[in-house]
Amino acid sequence: MIKKLIKKPAMRLLLLLVCCFQIGSSWAEGHPTDLREDDIAHEPANLQNGIQVAMNLCTLCHDLKYVKYHDLLEIGLSAKEVDKIRGANSASDPILSKMNDKQMNALFGMTTPDLSLMAKARGDGAQYIYSLLLAYHERRDGAIVNNLYPDIKMPDVLAYSIENDERARSAIEQNARDIAAFLAWTADPKAKERRTLGVYVMLYLFVLTFMLYRLKQKTWSRLKT
Ligand code: HEC
Repeated sequence: MIKKLIKKPAMRLLLLLVCCFQIGSSWAEGHPTDLREDDIAHEPANLQNGIQVAMNLCTLCHDLKYVKYHDLLEIGLSAKEVDKIRGANSASDPILSKMNDKQMNALFGMTTPDLSLMAKARGDGAQYIYSLLLAYHERRDGAIVNNLYPDIKMPDVLAYSIENDERARSAIEQNARDIAAFLAWTADPKAKERRTLGVYVMLYLFVLTFMLYRLKQKTWSRLKT
């Protein structure tokens, strides 16, 4: 009976599809390439932790050339805190990497991309950056690879793949969230303002519509009598 069924072309096709699906899903389990689902908070405290991560780590290799030190006042840092971050740089200087192009080329065979607009350049901006930073894992042969971007030349800068302690891992995850939120802000600093303005515009339009409706009612009631 089963043998007979298998001989039918439609049944063979179905079996083949099931096999492909099985192979496909087991491959995907070993190589999760999807972005991580997570709530990235964009509150001032997150952005302020994000700039700390950027200054301690990311700017070793990356520029943030469209962000000037004095722009950091906008995320709620005090002038004193900004002074501490900028050190000997002037407040109107852009935030640049501690490495120059030559050093980057020698190390990675390329110049590292600027991060200021990275969240805009990649779809799912903050979610992508967060997922990318946490997509490193140690393979059985000891090599550290990134699931999301397997050929990436950036090392596991947050050392997530080699950290086994649960608390340390969740601290790294928080830093990844906050640097992602910070880079979403650098890519679109006016996003929050725009959203607030949008609400006021909607309220204004609502009130205006109501007033015009009342006016129309009044005018027509006078015409009718
Ligand atoms: C040791 C140097 C180094 C450090 C530190 C570093 N990066 Fe990178 N990063 C690189 C290099 C090199 C590339 C280019 C990788 C490539 O295209 O293969 C890169 C690329 C990227 C990309 C672009 C990926 C893409 O889709 O093209 C993002 C986003 C990024 N880094 C974020 C960060 C963040 C956030 C930090 C700080 C937490 C950071 N990097 C710290 C070296 C570094």
